[in-house]
Amino acid sequence: MKIAGAATGIVFFTRTGHTKRVAKRLAQALSADLIPMRAPQYEKGFRGYMRAAIDSLRHINEHTPQDFESLTDYDRIVLCAPVWTSFPAVPLRGLLHGNVALPSSVSLFLTSGAHSPTHKAFRVAETDLGRSFVAKASLPNDWEGTPKEERIFARFFRDLDPAQGIAAAL
Ligand SMILES: Cc1cc2nc3c(=O)[nH]c(=O)nc-3n(C[C@H](O)[C@H](O)[C@H](O)COP(=O)(O)O)c2cc1C
Repeated sequence: MKIAGAATGIVFFTRTGHTKRVAKRLAQALSADLIPMRAPQYEKGFRGYMRAAIDSLRHINEHTPQDFESLTDYDRIVLCAPVWTSFPAVPLRGLLHGNVALPSSVSLFLTSGAHSPTHKAFRVAETDLGRSFVAKASLPNDWEGTPKEERIFARFFRDLDPAQGIAAAL
């Protein structure tokens, strides 16, 4: 699956919009395709929230079928998802546990409410993937629009592509 010939795909899951905001910014800076993930069982509202929390705590990482079956047409993929109960959100874990083929360059950008440190979520996601991410970042919701957000993005772009990082962040 490739939408417009971009080298980078930004695959994101969002319930309430914070991760979509991050994904859009990444797509713009990297001239990348935006690829939303569907998981209607976790839609907005109390039922969706409760199911998200319970499935996350129980490690129910079933793969929800997506509009794509492979992402290997891209040179690199950036996965974006929220933290749920200290883990990467279930739809992301489902993707990593499923049969979706990925390129060698895979990175991860998490959003969080900052109730908990994100190192556990990164560790779990790397275990699910079976290898390390090229670049990793996490943005607490409270840091949106602040200089801290700028620093997080700058570091992420530098880790993603050391030669191009500074130019992409500008
Ligand atoms: C079920 C559930 C569990 C969550 N658990 C955590 C958590 O353990 N730590 C944290 O910092 N934020 C937690 N959050 C907050 C989200 O990570 C945060 O609001 C995120 O930015 C939401 O992204 P979205 O707007 O793209 O859905 C949780 C949110 C939900 C829905």
